[in-house]
Amino acid sequence: MTDMSADTISVPAQWRAQHPTTPHLTGLLDYHTLYKESIHFPSTFWAKQARELLSFTQDFHTTSIGSLENGDNAWFVGGGLNACFNCVDRHAIQDPHRAALIYEPDDPADGSRIITYGELLRHVSRLAGVLRGRGVKKGDIVTIYMPMIPEAVMAVLACARIGAVHSVVFAGFSAEALGDRIQDANSAVVITTDEGRRGGRTISTKRVVDEAARECPQVTTVLVYKRTGADIPWMAGRDLWWDEEMKQYPAYTPPEVMDSEDYLFLLYTSGSTGKPKGVFHSTAGYLLGAAVTGKYVFDIHPQDRFFCSGDIGWITGHTYVVYAPLALGCTSIIFEGTPTYPSHTRFWEIVQKHACTHFYGAPTAFRLLKRSIAKENLQNIDTSQLRVLGSVGEPIAPEVWKWYYDFMGNENAVVTDTYWQTETGSHIIAACAGVTPMKPGSATLPCLGIDLAIIDPVTGEELKGNQVEGVLAIKQPWPSMARTIRGNHDRYMDSYFNVYKGYYFTGDAAFRDQDGYYWIRGRVDDVVNVSGHRLSTSEIEGAIIEHPGVAEAAIIGVPDELTGQAINAIVSLKNDQTPETTAKELVIKVRTTIGPFAAPKKVLVVRDLPKTRSGKIVRRILRKALTGENEFGDTSTLADPSVLDEILEAVASS
Ligand code: WTA
Repeated sequence: MTDMSADTISVPAQWRAQHPTTPHLTGLLDYHTLYKESIHFPSTFWAKQARELLSFTQDFHTTSIGSLENGDNAWFVGGGLNACFNCVDRHAIQDPHRAALIYEPDDPADGSRIITYGELLRHVSRLAGVLRGRGVKKGDIVTIYMPMIPEAVMAVLACARIGAVHSVVFAGFSAEALGDRIQDANSAVVITTDEGRRGGRTISTKRVVDEAARECPQVTTVLVYKRTGADIPWMAGRDLWWDEEMKQYPAYTPPEVMDSEDYLFLLYTSGSTGKPKGVFHSTAGYLLGAAVTGKYVFDIHPQDRFFCSGDIGWITGHTYVVYAPLALGCTSIIFEGTPTYPSHTRFWEIVQKHACTHFYGAPTAFRLLKRSIAKENLQNIDTSQLRVLGSVGEPIAPEVWKWYYDFMGNENAVVTDTYWQTETGSHIIAACAGVTPMKPGSATLPCLGIDLAIIDPVTGEELKGNQVEGVLAIKQPWPSMARTIRGNHDRYMDSYFNVYKGYYFTGDAAFRDQDGYYWIRGRVDDVVNVSGHRLSTSEIEGAIIEHPGVAEAAIIGVPDELTGQAINAIVSLKNDQTPETTAKELVIKVRTTIGPFAAPKKVLVVRDLPKTRSGKIVRRILRKALTGENEFGDTSTLADPSVLDEILEAVASS
């Protein structure tokens, strides 16, 4: 690639020279060679990677079966392994004193805590004993509702150790949303804390669990880790203190041998239709996706200290706080707080304090910090150990990319913008650290084993060659793809495989430029991305319509300088309603039904919504009205075109 376009930034010359060991890839050619092998000989490639990066107690006999068309994919068939053994035991055996986790509490004055691999093995073993003691068996789903503390990682690993499937629910979800997830998963055991701390504030995790569990009669155990020591309500028999239970169980519990295809976890995510879907990931395939991308995208080595600021409640936390760093035996930083507490330089301070080699965060935080930080604020902070900077969750604008490269990495660390999804399990498009020439704003090139396609949304035909734009799809199975949606395999087929036959449909649009680089344009479905949180407009609409005063509602994601997209609600009310009061109630309704992060930034009350004669709300027009466009295309299909003027007036005066 000698004729790369002008916007390319090459890997800094000193990057390799300053590398503490040897990078996993020696150059771009290495990537291309491996990539070609991974696409043309996927079985050979993946079998080799699996045997090299994972420890199986029983070797697999078949690398992969199934097709995207039939949605029946299985990997490393016949293999036996345990994910917890892979993430903990094998490193504890080799080097028990190596730090596995470093806990950085919300308040830096509280001091950090190091947990070695040896200690982690003992904690996880005991917790595994506790879970077994409460009747958890292989295949049972345990719900985890915890803040970002090491015990959350232990909870995840303890489930994996005994073959229980973990379902982590983000601790920002409301009691109602948590209850739905506990119910859907049919969990008898929920793990939580008395409270949590975030950005100097208290989060009442146990109270939320109590409220959620009221609707879930099958919950027999709520295991509570004491984080703050607050006085909390207690239900004798059901509620148990973590510390007291742990004392009763031995410090070694043997790991359960799992089939490669046994589910490792369930994670709920938003889709096009209202109800959140519980996505199941497999043991071997998922773990391999984490390990391979950890190795080649992030260039992780055992000596590294990897700081991913994503929450364990989302896929980023699963794959890049827990599974990738631990499978590769490095140290993972567990940060409980927020980027702005106690000051806007918190990330830099953590990087300095723990000599982090990697930092992985979201553009929404970068945009916020970019506004509030001057170079002088960083003068006395040493972040020179940083080698790789990752970005995830939403497109990163070129000027934010450049700011990140400069302010966080001093132009010494490389930036990898990683595009992927809950369903893909691990990165799909990303620069391989230290080898891929970077382009600010582009996620760059496909990851190993990922065969991408750009499809014309109208004809459904694949667009070959470069300089093409369309919907992004994947045309070969890969190990860490989700295996099903809990209780609804048909929905799994319809969401991902029946849209374009033979392809996995991502739901995103993308452009492939003249150099074969990918530029993600955003979702083409009803999913919006607010501060990196994936939300479904129809789910929010569902919550709003439950308000008795609402006649009709539409939720639109509009561009927002800070949060990427923001939620706007446009509603028409029944006659007897006071608009101001109802608007406030609707915000509260969304907060309690889903969680504060889904609350509309703006609620516009209008007389009527733009509808076709058959009564279908025309969202396209609403989106344009809300973003200040005045070219509406054909409005003759509207049942009552005059509503448009009223909406424009409402927007102008809002
Ligand atoms: C978006 C998060 C642009 C995308 C890992 C995707 C991105 C959705 C990027 C998945 C990126 C994620 N550039 N867009 N680097 N990463 N997205 O399941 O729309 O929470 O479909 O997984 O986030 O969100 P999810």
